Amino acid sequence: MSNKTIIVQSGGGYDRVIVTNSEAAAPKCGEIKVRLHASSLNYHDFAVVSGMWGPTEDRIPMADGAGEVIAVGEGVTEFAVGDNVVSTFFPNWLDGEAEEEGFAAVPGDGVDGYAREQVTAPATSFTHAPKGYSHAEAATLTTAGLTAWRALFADDALKPGDTVLVQGSGGVSIFALQFAKLAGAQVIATSSSDEKLARLKALGADHLINYRKDPNWGETVRELTSGRGVDHVVEVGGPATLQQSMTAARVGGHISVIGILTGVSGEFPLVQALARQLRLQGVLVGSRAHQQAMIRAIDANGLRPVLDRSFALEQLAEAFRYQETNQHFGKIVLEF
Ligand SMILES: NC(=O)c1ccc[n+]([C@@H]2O[C@H](COP(=O)([O-])OP(=O)(O)OC[C@H]3O[C@@H](n4cnc5c(N)ncnc54)[C@H](OP(=O)(O)O)[C@@H]3O)[C@@H](O)[C@H]2O)c1
Repeated sequence: MSNKTIIVQSGGGYDRVIVTNSEAAAPKCGEIKVRLHASSLNYHDFAVVSGMWGPTEDRIPMADGAGEVIAVGEGVTEFAVGDNVVSTFFPNWLDGEAEEEGFAAVPGDGVDGYAREQVTAPATSFTHAPKGYSHAEAATLTTAGLTAWRALFADDALKPGDTVLVQGSGGVSIFALQFAKLAGAQVIATSSSDEKLARLKALGADHLINYRKDPNWGETVRELTSGRGVDHVVEVGGPATLQQSMTAARVGGHISVIGILTGVSGEFPLVQALARQLRLQGVLVGSRAHQQAMIRAIDANGLRPVLDRSFALEQLAEAFRYQETNQHFGKIVLEF
């Protein structure tokens, strides 16, 4: 059976993306075979495919995969043929404290990912998809959805009445906005674009800041919170935003250190961190148990992800070029 597969050749780069075929064996004990139908783009996948953090050997890219179970191996009771499933970011991190460092075991980076029509994998590499979700919607959850979920509910314990700051209108930030509203929190959202801010408002953001027009937005956040600061910052910007995020946080506030959109190193205002007793938590997506908890919440509340554009599997490089323009709002997906 055909199993169209994308490979990024060693070193990466858009000119080193090829379309080929691969094998998907019959599932052995504890495994399932999945006909994948969708993936979604993340900055991390961009880094692998573009060559910024290119693979050291030929690699099937993409961490996110959603599709339908087409065969189950002996001993698998959690899934049946016909079930809709979505992949997990860390196939080996099932529950409990984080133990894995980096991306060595992450599909699409250290091991082959989901830019292919079929895959055979341990059943624990997937969870059920939310009820009623399209494959494209489900595929947005593995990386972006789970990162936002973990930041707010696993590493911190967001509660009604808390205030959350989200940055920009990318995949993680929009999920964080949606989850925060689900939990009854206030949300302050930033963006480079007034038009995108209007869309963030339509999604429930309570306060809006254009970070291009207001470079000292940390102070503006404090004013919006009557000088107190926010309980939680979903920090995706990196070195160029961390200082403002620390200004925006309340004494003892929680900052999820998630993104590197403006670079990978910079000055760290240590005194501010000490004086304000901030809790900075590095985040690398989450466990399978986190994903199951997130999906229970989605099922209970009917939350739907915000999809931007859809591309075919063969258009992977084109899709990443589009992502690079930052025109998108929410998730860019591949459907196949
Ligand atoms: N640690 C983890 O587990 C984890 C997981 C997922 C993602 N990430 C990281 O989180 C970051 C966001 O990922 P994503 O998938 O959500 O990316 P994305 O969908 O590509 O988001 C890009 C958006 O970020 C916003 N942005 C860019 N520069 C900004 C800045 N200086 N200040 C505020 N917003 C800015 C822009 O929004 P506007 O156009 O509205 O300004 C842009 O459209 C990336 O660095 C990614 O590597 C980390």
